[in-house]
Amino acid sequence: MARIPQEIIEQIFTTARIEEVIGEFVQLKKSGSNLKGLSPFNNEKTPSFMVSPAKQIFKCFSSGKGGSAVTFLMEMEQMSYPEALRWIAKKYNIEIPDARPQTPEEIEAGNMREAVYLITDVASRFFQGQLLETDSGKAIGLSYLKQRGYTDFTIEKFHLGYSPERSNAFAEYALSNQYSENALIESGISMKNERGWYDRFHGRVIFPIHSVSGRVLGFGGRILSSNTKVAKYLNSPENPIYNKSKVLYGLYQGKQEIMKRDEAFLVEGYTDVISFFQNGVCNVVSSSGTALTERQIGMLKRYTPNITLLFDGDAAGLRASFRGLDMMLEQGVNVRVVSFPEGEDPDSFAKQRTNEELEEFLETNKKDFISFKTAALLQDVAGDPLKFAEMVRDVVGSISKVPDQIGREVFIKEAASILEMEPNSLYEELARLQGLQERQRRKNQAQAPLMEVMPADYSADQKIYGYEQEKKVIHLLISKGTDNMLDADLDEEEVVPVAIANWIVDELEEDHIEFLNPIYARMYNLLADEIEQERIPSMDWWVRQEDQDIVKEVTDALTDKYTLANWKSKDIYLPEEEKTIFTLVKETTMRMKYVHVERKLQALKDYLKMENADYDYYMVQFQKWNSARQIINEKLNRVV
Ligand code: CTP
Ligand code: MN
Repeated sequence: MARIPQEIIEQIFTTARIEEVIGEFVQLKKSGSNLKGLSPFNNEKTPSFMVSPAKQIFKCFSSGKGGSAVTFLMEMEQMSYPEALRWIAKKYNIEIPDARPQTPEEIEAGNMREAVYLITDVASRFFQGQLLETDSGKAIGLSYLKQRGYTDFTIEKFHLGYSPERSNAFAEYALSNQYSENALIESGISMKNERGWYDRFHGRVIFPIHSVSGRVLGFGGRILSSNTKVAKYLNSPENPIYNKSKVLYGLYQGKQEIMKRDEAFLVEGYTDVISFFQNGVCNVVSSSGTALTERQIGMLKRYTPNITLLFDGDAAGLRASFRGLDMMLEQGVNVRVVSFPEGEDPDSFAKQRTNEELEEFLETNKKDFISFKTAALLQDVAGDPLKFAEMVRDVVGSISKVPDQIGREVFIKEAASILEMEPNSLYEELARLQGLQERQRRKNQAQAPLMEVMPADYSADQKIYGYEQEKKVIHLLISKGTDNMLDADLDEEEVVPVAIANWIVDELEEDHIEFLNPIYARMYNLLADEIEQERIPSMDWWVRQEDQDIVKEVTDALTDKYTLANWKSKDIYLPEEEKTIFTLVKETTMRMKYVHVERKLQALKDYLKMENADYDYYMVQFQKWNSARQIINEKLNRVV
């Protein structure tokens, strides 16, 4: 799809009323100058979801989410930025012209995609109709689904269907209704050979596979008999709209519940998802018989960082997938596992239990992945000391993948208790592994430019590394950047009003101060580009950014008491306010400079300790930064 022209994006943002957009999803009530409602992202009884018509932002205090109307649609409906813009444009009847004419190839590919979408949708409706409205469909397909215990509600919820026994029934229907033959072939729903047309799924019950937004992308078809010569399931082949590594079965139906419960259950197949759903556990998805891909993890993580894998008691396959699970840990997923009793799978288990029983089983059998893996491996090595040592390394290897320090510590303690070892010996192994990783990192860094050295875990000590200080500067730039103030440190005669953003940028540029936090760095660069062109970004401008990490930060800034509550936006401050706003801006900026300089000095000290360091060069640098520190200290009126 073609890009949306910038002026149309502006028009969409100026036309959209956030309260109207969100009002379509959330019931909002007036509360002072704001609107209030129950968060759609969390289960809550007291409303903590705020919409500000004046600022055109929302903030959900229970989930921390916030942003513009566009952000809301992206979070709520998992739309992309352009999809959200198009949704709003449609609501307000804003026409989006093509910014650039498409090439013939693009038009052809686009048309084919659209045609495949269409034929897939037509097929889905056809299969549903066959199941529910024809005698043979009812007698064969529907009775099979009923015998498996599915209710009408479930059958409707998952749009289940039936492809008739006659092997060309759908092809005939599609072609006689003038649907594209090429699209039909491309979709994989029907095939053509010397003997004519042939429907892939004929004689099977149909499980449509939906995109997150509910479009049908493809199908799984299950055989009705227990004929072991034929594959139990056939699936749509990869095609212009169906890519199995990018789809999760059940996500469309379950996404709301996943958000609310802040957890997703991952099962193996179609029937597991459906039986869980019917039991009342609706936060469930399946990757359709394959290992979870990075892409799928990314999709799920937009709804929750907590993923719980459910697998059959006899699943030997889980051990083989330990490595794949490390990948999830690395991506910051909270991996947990539940294993089902021998001979049961989630489908059969859910069917024979009440909702309370199932919930309780899941709750009591949930183990974090590391403990689970430790216990499983421990069983395997019983009594073999060599294998034991290897197993410990394996477990600690998984723990080293966990990105946050606190998480790693918790897991070390748990593993130690399972293995009946001292936590300290595991820490030692962890330190050794991290040392290896660190040496690797330094080796890569040796080639990196000077002064770019960053401590490994730079979120560890906020005081030294200064994210907090950077955040305050960024928040000030957003909420007060366009305001003018007088520089109270200058002599009376030379004082002219200066925009706060300009003052801060000048001050930071003077000492070449960069932002270390990647998001703040991106924001600062955007701001610097604007200032270069003699524009100062307004709050509105910030909220319209495509990068939603930025919009989130902007929303935080606009709802941050420190910068917001006490300060009204002003053309210029009156003399009595002057002192305070100037002091605030100055202190905030100087604090950031201070930690930055501290960091440089720290890094230089490390360099100086290194063998064959260029001592003279680093000494000069050190003195330079040291005097910068003194100047900042003076400005901050601190005593060194
Ligand atoms: N699967 C597949 N093709 C197969 C077998 C399995 O695509 N030939 C996928 C399906 O997504 C299936 C999942 O792997 O749902 C799990 O396989 P299995 O446990 O064999 O199927 P169930 O879902 O348990 O199906 P049923 O209960 O109907 O036997
Ligand atoms: Mn099964």
